[in-house]
Amino acid sequence: MPRVRLDLDPLRETLLLTLYARALDSGRDRPILGDTRSAEVAAAIDYDFARLKVRPSLVCSTALRARRLDDVVRAFVAEHPDAVVLDLGCGLDTRVYRCDPPAGVDWYDVDFADVVALRPRFLPERSRRLGADVTVPGWLAGLPRDRPALVVAEGLVPFLPGDAFPRLVRELTGHFATGVLALNGYTRFAAWAMKYHPTIRAIGITAAQGFDDPHEPETWRAGLTLAGEDLLVRAPEVAGFPQPLRAATRLMGHSTGIARQGARILRYSF
Ligand SMILES: C[S@@+](CC[C@H](N)C(=O)[O-])C[C@H]1O[C@@H](n2cnc3c(N)ncnc32)[C@H](O)[C@@H]1O
Repeated sequence: MPRVRLDLDPLRETLLLTLYARALDSGRDRPILGDTRSAEVAAAIDYDFARLKVRPSLVCSTALRARRLDDVVRAFVAEHPDAVVLDLGCGLDTRVYRCDPPAGVDWYDVDFADVVALRPRFLPERSRRLGADVTVPGWLAGLPRDRPALVVAEGLVPFLPGDAFPRLVRELTGHFATGVLALNGYTRFAAWAMKYHPTIRAIGITAAQGFDDPHEPETWRAGLTLAGEDLLVRAPEVAGFPQPLRAATRLMGHSTGIARQGARILRYSF
């Protein structure tokens, strides 16, 4: 079958790097996520993935953060089989298939309209698609309010401009009565340092958003309470990282301040 060429601006093109990182993980001897569907989707796209210069560190951290966020989603929908799930900035992520929610769950894959429109070309319909710029207020209007909501945002926050993320969170928690927000957090330094990352440079995008103190979102007047911070450099899966990445990652784990500069999963209840 001929591969599909996509016309994506740099902001949207970032979805290819997470997709490709998961695809590479699935080809490892001992994958962390084992998402072979991502490998199939990447193989169907006509794109020079080599230009992204994706290194083992990005492969392992992307697979690990996806795995942890999947765990949060699975636990939530197991407890709330009538939940509403929002995957914000979903790109071509296969999370809904990996998590396989019960039939009573309404799952919305949310991204720019042109991005969610791509999904059925590569992935069988399994969720509702919601095309929106999440920085523009009002996009939640048609969604149920009274059911427990799980909002997951992977790889989205650093690309939102200015104070768009706190505003988005206030809109979410104002809409849904109760729920959990789960995201991979970036410190200010990590977000700043991203612009020197070879993969981000290859795409030509700047990313700047981050916060250091995991309690900071509790001050955003959004009704959030920190429910957990998971520093992934200390995860048991690091034992399966290739060397020298494994040794370097373990070294980072000795100090909480330094561990926070690596991948971390934050959960907030509201
Ligand atoms: C790094 S990719 C992550 C994609 C996906 N979460 C994954 O892990 O594969 C960031 C995604 O956020 C989306 N995005 C960025 N800004 C957005 C906005 N303002 N509204 C909706 N989606 C946005 C992009 O289109 C892109 O798909």
